[in-house]
Amino acid sequence: MKPTYSMQTVATDEVVPKSRRVYFEVFGCQMNKLDAELMLEGMMQRGYQLVHDPAEAGVILYNTCSVRERAEERAVMRMTSFKRRKMEEPDLILGLTGCVAQHKQEELSDRAPWIDLIIGTREFDRLPDLIDEARGESTSLLATDMDSPLEFVRQRNLGPQPWHAYVSVMRGCDMVCTYCIVPTTRGKEVSRPPEVILDEVRRLADEGVKEITFLGQTVNSYGKRLGAGIGLDTLLRGVEEIDGIHRCHFITSHPRFMRPKLIQAMADCSKVMNYLHLPVQSGSDSMLARMKRTYDRSFYLQSIERLREKMPDITLATDFIVGFPGETDAEFEDSLTLVEEVGFDHGYVFQYSPRPGTVSADHLQDDIDLEIKKERNHALLEALGKSGKSRNERFLGRKVEVIAEGTSKSDDTRWAGRARDHRTVIWPANDDEKPGSFVVVEVDRTSAATLYGKRVEGPSETPILPPEMRS
Ligand code: SAH
Ligand code: SF4
Ligand code: F3S
Repeated sequence: MKPTYSMQTVATDEVVPKSRRVYFEVFGCQMNKLDAELMLEGMMQRGYQLVHDPAEAGVILYNTCSVRERAEERAVMRMTSFKRRKMEEPDLILGLTGCVAQHKQEELSDRAPWIDLIIGTREFDRLPDLIDEARGESTSLLATDMDSPLEFVRQRNLGPQPWHAYVSVMRGCDMVCTYCIVPTTRGKEVSRPPEVILDEVRRLADEGVKEITFLGQTVNSYGKRLGAGIGLDTLLRGVEEIDGIHRCHFITSHPRFMRPKLIQAMADCSKVMNYLHLPVQSGSDSMLARMKRTYDRSFYLQSIERLREKMPDITLATDFIVGFPGETDAEFEDSLTLVEEVGFDHGYVFQYSPRPGTVSADHLQDDIDLEIKKERNHALLEALGKSGKSRNERFLGRKVEVIAEGTSKSDDTRWAGRARDHRTVIWPANDDEKPGSFVVVEVDRTSAATLYGKRVEGPSETPILPPEMRS
């Protein structure tokens, strides 16, 4: 079994006992990936080692996601597959962390008392202590306080790629989108002070990180409650001054907070990638109102217009939900036409999944047939694919700068990496390819999501093309 997220194992000759070997599965969003890295770092400081085979581990952790029912069920089912081993091997520690742990805490401890640890989203800094405490206990230990300050000083990047790191800028969400469980699982919005974040970025740069992704549930509302004048733009301008970091982007933005100050900073800063993920959820005003998204179609379109005034070539990605309660054919049609009107480069489509505890699950009937959800999902993906394909064609003949990642998944004679607008780029491998290096690829073919071409410059440790040739 291959873990869902391969964090870096740090090579060491030391042989640690089984009780100090940890296996980690990570589900859900980038925030969950970073949280797993932070948990692992805390454990490594206490002598734990990461292993990639659960059979070798004395501690098995699942960092879980609640956003859709399937994600939640998958994590709990996979954890259940360890139940028998736990009966035979009582010293084994099983821990469920993250959003499902936060959301289903009591239900889980009743339903699965053989799970030793249930640790929510704001207390995972206590993980090593909690493991010690759980040893020898026969019931689940719960750590799900939402008011915990969750402070950590991060020393290293344990993400799968040494040249890329996630950096958390805020936690939680103050919005009230009616379908969404995240405010329940992640709590109120709390921003970290800018100097703490920028110090962390500097440390990561010293370690060899070249690209960072700032993370927050509504990352572009960063700075709330920190005092006047502090926003995501403060961080982008701060990163511009940090040697060694060459690229930076941020997820996930909320359309409500695409303020002029932020757009100006994105346009001014040469390190900010030419890419924005701006989930719209629906193109219909009545749907957006029922979802309580706090904007309408024309507000969204205006944000895009303001953005394109300053960054005409920006790559835009989005999320849609189909089959939200009461979605009529006409309302769905509005999502289809929005794809064309905006000209998205890329988009994700999710079928509405009622999450108990949310307003829509508790007060609205999940009345759209699964078949219709599937049809709408398919139709919207098709429209997004068409839009993506035509947007990709403008890259034909262009030179794009790429950070090389490794051999392509489908063909090991080719290499893959990401352009400065986050697009995947593929080229025939040369003898000297190196993960994390910059190369320039001249594009000679495009598909809906990918650019193909030949390497014409690089590899280089630093960027090759001038900043004005951003994508
Ligand atoms: N904070 C981000 C993303 C939150 S979850 C934002 O505000 O955009 C990621 C995506 O999952 C959302 O953009 C939404 O499209 C989808 N999603 C959230 N809740 C859902 C639900 N109950 N059913 C289906 N999709 C959902
Ligand atoms: Fe969920 Fe809405 Fe918050 Fe995003 S902004 S995390 S969709 S409540
Ligand atoms: Fe899932 Fe929690 Fe992220 S619900 S999407 S892991 S914030």
